[in-house]
Amino acid sequence: MTALRLHRLRKIYDNGFEALKGIDLEVAEGDFFALLGPNGAGKSTTIGIVTSLVKKTSGKVEICGYDLDRQWEQAKRCVGLVPQEINFNQFEKVGQIVLNQAGYYGVPRRVARRRMERVLKQLELWDRRDQVSRRLSGGMKRRLMIARALVHSPRLLILDEPTAGVDIEIRHSMWDFLRELNRQGTTIILTTHYLEEAEQLCRNVAIIDHGEIIEATSMSRLLDQLEFNSYFLDLRRETRVVPDVPGYRIEVLDRTTWAVAVPRRLGLNPLFQALDERGIEIVDIRQRRNRLEQLFLQRVGRPMGEAA
Ligand SMILES: Nc1ncnc2c1ncn2[C@@H]1O[C@H](COP(=O)(O)OP(=O)(O)OP(=O)(O)O)[C@@H](O)[C@H]1O
Ligand SMILES: [Mg+2]
Repeated sequence: MTALRLHRLRKIYDNGFEALKGIDLEVAEGDFFALLGPNGAGKSTTIGIVTSLVKKTSGKVEICGYDLDRQWEQAKRCVGLVPQEINFNQFEKVGQIVLNQAGYYGVPRRVARRRMERVLKQLELWDRRDQVSRRLSGGMKRRLMIARALVHSPRLLILDEPTAGVDIEIRHSMWDFLRELNRQGTTIILTTHYLEEAEQLCRNVAIIDHGEIIEATSMSRLLDQLEFNSYFLDLRRETRVVPDVPGYRIEVLDRTTWAVAVPRRLGLNPLFQALDERGIEIVDIRQRRNRLEQLFLQRVGRPMGEAA
């Protein structure tokens, strides 16, 4: 069973800009799936079309087996969306926001009250239910967005950059919550700029760039393609001449900082040994890019988020 199937999905905005160039994508039921890509790649456009907020130009969308054009009501019921921007009424009460959403999906009032209580408790917002949402912290607002998206018990939950601007602690508790939700059977698709997030959570991944899917594979296979790890090295003394160490790529950033690309097959030790033999002392080493960013660079030839 597929939770989401996109076939030759194309979007040309009114100004003539082609944001999606006919993408194909399949997400299996039960999956935890990442849609990765730099700013402007087309992630929110894709999600907007799936959730009927954006009108597609052509192509096909199937949600839990329902065709979005012909079986819109059923398809809509299957999806919960946590949009990129916080978009609830800031003057409305937390509990009411969740209840309204339930009403929008036709959940009967009594059932809605029970579900509202459950999702607010799950997301640790129950004691805030009578506060106007404006008074919540940023992290609480994000959690309220998730609670609202879950009140009609969707089979597919889509989160568009769910943890943007959320501190580490709340991010981790959100991850735990999403993992548990997925374990209990909800299919989850997320887009994120925190690539560690995709690595931590997702089993399968697609990379989108300039409106095209350039890779769709499992997370582990994607990481296997990684050829290099990138580090910053801090040197004890200014070193003008960069030694040639076969296999490694070394780049001078400033007087005492180098960037190195370390081939996975070689690791760090031969490099340290070669530098040591030349009397070059390293005082600190830091990871320059996380692994997915490095991978993106390898595949696309430029850092994530940078213009072509
Ligand atoms: N209403 C619109 N009219 C014209 N162009 C648009 C419109 N909305 C988005 N775009 C353009 O479509 C492209 C894809 O935008 P989209 O929001 O889907 O990217 P994204 O991958 O979600 O980016 P981000 O990571 O910044 O959220 C961008 O170049 C954007 O400027
Ligand atoms: Mg976006």
